[in-house]
Amino acid sequence: MAKITVIGCGTIGSAFTMHWAKDHQVSVIEKNPSRVDTMQGKVQVFSLKEIKKALLNAEIVLLAIKPQDLSDSASKITPFIPKNALMISVLAGTSTTMLADYFPDIRLMRLIPNNAIVQQQGVIGMVEPEEITPIEKKQLETLLHPFGLLHWLPEDKIDAFTVLTSCNPAYLFTIMETMLDAGVHMGLSAHEALPLLLQTWKGVVAMLSNTKKHPGELKWQVTSPAGMTIAGVRALEKGNLRSAIFETLLAAYDKGLNLHVKHHQ
Ligand SMILES: NC(=O)c1ccc[n+]([C@@H]2O[C@H](COP(=O)([O-])OP(=O)(O)OC[C@H]3O[C@@H](n4cnc5c(N)ncnc54)[C@H](OP(=O)(O)O)[C@@H]3O)[C@@H](O)[C@H]2O)c1
Repeated sequence: MAKITVIGCGTIGSAFTMHWAKDHQVSVIEKNPSRVDTMQGKVQVFSLKEIKKALLNAEIVLLAIKPQDLSDSASKITPFIPKNALMISVLAGTSTTMLADYFPDIRLMRLIPNNAIVQQQGVIGMVEPEEITPIEKKQLETLLHPFGLLHWLPEDKIDAFTVLTSCNPAYLFTIMETMLDAGVHMGLSAHEALPLLLQTWKGVVAMLSNTKKHPGELKWQVTSPAGMTIAGVRALEKGNLRSAIFETLLAAYDKGLNLHVKHHQ
């Protein structure tokens, strides 16, 4: 059983907290403790004034506040982080170097979850800290495994990882919304079209992961010569969908790089 303190219990903090609370001793620090009233009894909930108590003997500290709250919060938290604790930050766009400025002499690790961890279907990127024992690494993997796919990566790949896994759901939801609209235009209700589309997407994911075939090859399997599907593919190419997707992901990536540059200025 690990002693874990979660700082900031919004979407991400509460997803981890609720699961960890089943097997571990979890304390939560939340600006507004009434916001996490439903957790009372399952975890110990502390206000900002009780940071010292909440961090007492913590082995793992999960920092899950918004990046814009970091500069105000860090000085209040730092003095109470136990010497040997591992602080895990989920803050997007906040490098280990930036974190070390705020939390000197504390063992730090970056972790990027996507919001599907709430459904335990997430992807979690983990940057290996300099000082971590094989036992701690194993313990971390055990703690995070229930939330989805785990992927260790060097920090210089974290922006690419963030775009593909954390930003991407927004684009995929937009594509799904557009498909629903098209379904409605063709005479189906959105209510009727949604489960059909969901199962189609699930099928596509299953085909890709089970056959291990290239998406292009799977596309050709469903496009018969002079048929309906290839007519749609033509319209899709005319509409520059590939270019739009490429540019979308790179715009998010460039934005991430610019945020780092701004922080270092
Ligand atoms: N959501 C995602 O999909 C996602 C993906 C990857 C990474 N992340 C990262 O995860 C972090 C949390 O995101 P989120 O979506 O969970 O945010 P959120 O829902 O806004 O949760 C953050 C919570 O922390 C509270 N808080 C702020 N300062 C605090 C402090 N000093 N001590 C205790 N609590 C404090 C906030 O209170 P107030 O609202 O009153 O300020 C809020 O309740 C962010 O840094 C984000 O970059 C999120």
